[in-house]
Amino acid sequence: MHKFVIVGGKRLEGTIRVSGAKNATLPIMAASLLSSSKSNLAEIPQLEDVRVMLYLLEYLGAKVQRDQDRVTIDSGQVKPLEVTEELMRKMRASNLIMGPLLSRFGYVRVSHPGGCAIGSRPMDLHLKGFRALGAKITERYGYIVAECEKLTGAEIHLDFPSVGATENLMMAAALARGQTVIRNAAKEPEIVDLQNFLNGMGANIKGAGTDAIKIQGVTGLGPVEHMVIPDRIEAGTHMLAAAITNGDITITNIIPEHVEPVVAKLKEAGITIIDGDDWIRVVGNGIIKAVDLKTMPYPGFPTDMQAQMMALMTIAQGTSVVSESIFENRFKQIAELRRMGADIKLEGRAAIIKGVPKLSGAFVEATDLRAGAAMVLAGLAAEDVTVVENIHHIDRGYERLEAKYRGVGAKIMRVNKN
Ligand code: EPZ
Repeated sequence: MHKFVIVGGKRLEGTIRVSGAKNATLPIMAASLLSSSKSNLAEIPQLEDVRVMLYLLEYLGAKVQRDQDRVTIDSGQVKPLEVTEELMRKMRASNLIMGPLLSRFGYVRVSHPGGCAIGSRPMDLHLKGFRALGAKITERYGYIVAECEKLTGAEIHLDFPSVGATENLMMAAALARGQTVIRNAAKEPEIVDLQNFLNGMGANIKGAGTDAIKIQGVTGLGPVEHMVIPDRIEAGTHMLAAAITNGDITITNIIPEHVEPVVAKLKEAGITIIDGDDWIRVVGNGIIKAVDLKTMPYPGFPTDMQAQMMALMTIAQGTSVVSESIFENRFKQIAELRRMGADIKLEGRAAIIKGVPKLSGAFVEATDLRAGAAMVLAGLAAEDVTVVENIHHIDRGYERLEAKYRGVGAKIMRVNKN
């Protein structure tokens, strides 16, 4: 197991380029299963989760070629093989193959993806939507089977604007007979990127980015070239790296609108932000004001930035309240931050953080992807040395994180745990 060793207290200064978005890449790769042609993708990040998804596609019979950030997926020989528990448990987003396989082949059998560190993560909204499109769903022995000769378009109202359910249902409806409308749909930028990819294949989808998405089913989909959008969560993490080290970092390859919720919160905390057209500069000015935040679906404050923002608040002036409304168990970083001297009390789904002057280095662990990122940020700010264990969680969602932070002056190295 690898770990990061971080010598904190360095002001980070310089420029970091953001990689392509993990949470756009994964649904788009799943969507490539819908056609029997080639999908040529660019700006694909080199992440563990992306490797897992490509492995899954190859397992199903796709031919995959990869050259740095460019990936070609040929789904001509794909079959709806049963996806075993071992494969499904590697990554929750494996469930995104259901919509495409059901829509193209009329059948899909997967092991229930199961929960993960941040919550139970059921699939009821996905399955309810598949049923609305005419699929017969059988759940037995930990497996889910969805089958239907030909899906038929329907009106689907999501009880919650689930990102994955919205994506799965867009993909299922793409080849269904007639029109589907998904109401109370998730509005994340990654949904818009998926719509653009699907329409590039010849789908007929409108409304992504709003809470009503209209999909006119088509008879077939073809080849497509697509560049995925930059990763707004990676960008937000780097913005906090500048703020927490009182540094000065210019983050390039961003779409300003996508990072607006985080920018607004940082400005509220007194951080200096200079906006560019595809870059943003974050300058620490010695002041970090305590701010309250509640995670919400986009365009609210993103749950994927909650842990990182909590790390910043541990050294803010004053007391902040952080509420997590999306996942039921996404505060695993609290115990680790406390080991570094943070003063955090947990009351239900709200954490009360009383700012302390400084964090101190400690042995801590990454409990999940974003909590791991929070621990790196805390280590960068803390005095002396912090060791972050189990960084395979971090490698799932951040490409060469230590190299990016070394590039702006951090003393951080990856070591193999002996
Ligand atoms: C996506 O997960 C992201 N993952 C997550 O990012 C992100 O945190 C999440 O959306 C929310 O923005 C990818 O895009 C690959 P949801 P997803 O369905 O689709 C409940 C990261 O760090 N729910 O919007 O799984 C669910 O339990 C990852 O990059 C149901 O109850 O999220 C959760 O509490 C972590 N029933 C809430 O909705 C369902 O059928 C939000 O889940 C589906 C979801």
